[in-house]
Amino acid sequence: MISRKGLILAGGTGSRLFPVTLIASKQLLPVYDKPMIYYPLSLLMQAGVTEIAIITAPDRLASFRALFGDGSGLGLTIEYIVQPKPEGLAQAYLLAEGFLDGAPSVLVLGDNIFHGPDLGLLLERANARNGSTIFGYRVDDPTNFGVVSFDADGRATSIEEKPRRPRSDYAATGLYFLDGDASRRARDVRPSPRGELEITDLLQTYLDERRLDVETLGRGFAWFDTGTHRSLLAASEFVQMIDECQGLKLGCIEEVAFQMGLIDVEQMLRLAAPLMKTNYGQYLRKTALAGAHAGVRDFRSIA
Ligand code: TTP
Repeated sequence: MISRKGLILAGGTGSRLFPVTLIASKQLLPVYDKPMIYYPLSLLMQAGVTEIAIITAPDRLASFRALFGDGSGLGLTIEYIVQPKPEGLAQAYLLAEGFLDGAPSVLVLGDNIFHGPDLGLLLERANARNGSTIFGYRVDDPTNFGVVSFDADGRATSIEEKPRRPRSDYAATGLYFLDGDASRRARDVRPSPRGELEITDLLQTYLDERRLDVETLGRGFAWFDTGTHRSLLAASEFVQMIDECQGLKLGCIEEVAFQMGLIDVEQMLRLAAPLMKTNYGQYLRKTALAGAHAGVRDFRSIA
C-alpha cells in the first residue's frame, strides 16, 4: 500500500481576523501557548503521516520554513508549496499534484482544531482504510459551513457549501482523507460563483459514485474553526482549560513525535532546551524524562 501523504492548507486571506492578519499569517497566531498550525500538524502526525506539505501564501512561506525547516527535527519530511492566490480549498490538490504523485492524501485546514476521545485511533483507522473519509460534526448554525445530508440509511448523499436551507445539522469539518484520484478529479472542478474551487464540489464527485465515507464525530468531540476573533479566543480558552485541569497539552507536536517513536529522548530534550523559560518547555522535558523512565511504548499507553 502506498503511504498517505499529508497536506496543511495554510494560505488564505484571513479577512475575518483583520487587522491582525493584514501583517501576520493566521496559522501562526497563538492558540493559547503555541502557533495555530501546531494543532493540524499534530493531527496528521497522530494519523501516522510523516510526509507533509504546507501550502502557504508567497509572502508567508519564509515564516513557516523558519519554524519547521525540513521537518527532520520532528522526524518528519516537510515541504512547502506556494499558493499564489487563495482560489479555494480544492486548489490544494492541483498545487500538490507533483508532491502527491498519485498517493492517497489527508488534507487538514490550517485553522482547524480537533479534540476528543480516541482521536488517534479514529485517525489511524481512516488512514489505514483504502478509500476516502471525511468527518461530520453537529453545529448549531450549519448555514456557515459545507453541510452533509444523509439518506434514511444514514449514508451521506450530498454536500452543499453554505446552504441557505441546510438539509442537516452536520458540517463537514476541515479534515479530508482522499484517495489517489483527488488531483485528477480537482482538474474538473470549475470555479463557483464566488470564484473559488470549492472542496464541496470535489467531494460531491466522490459522493455521486458512493466512494466517500462520512464519519460523524459525537458529542464528546470538540471542533474549532479558529477563523474569527471569537472562535480564536474560545479555542485558546479550551486548550488552556485542558492544560490546567489535566496537565496535558493539546497540539504538542514534539510530544506526538515522541509518542509515535519519530524522535528519541535526547532529541526531545534538545527541543525543550531553548524553551525552558516556559511551561511548554518544561512540559517537553517532563514528558521526555517520563518516557525515558517508562520506555516509550509503555509511555504511549499512559499519555
Ligand atoms: P477560510 O477560513 O475559508 O478562508 P481564510 O483563511 O482566507 O479566511 P477569511 O474567510 O477570514 O478571509 O479558509 C480555511 C483555511 O484554508 C484557512 O486555514 C486558510 C486556508 N485557505 C487556503 O490556504 N487557501 C485558500 O484558497 C482558501 C480559501 C483557504
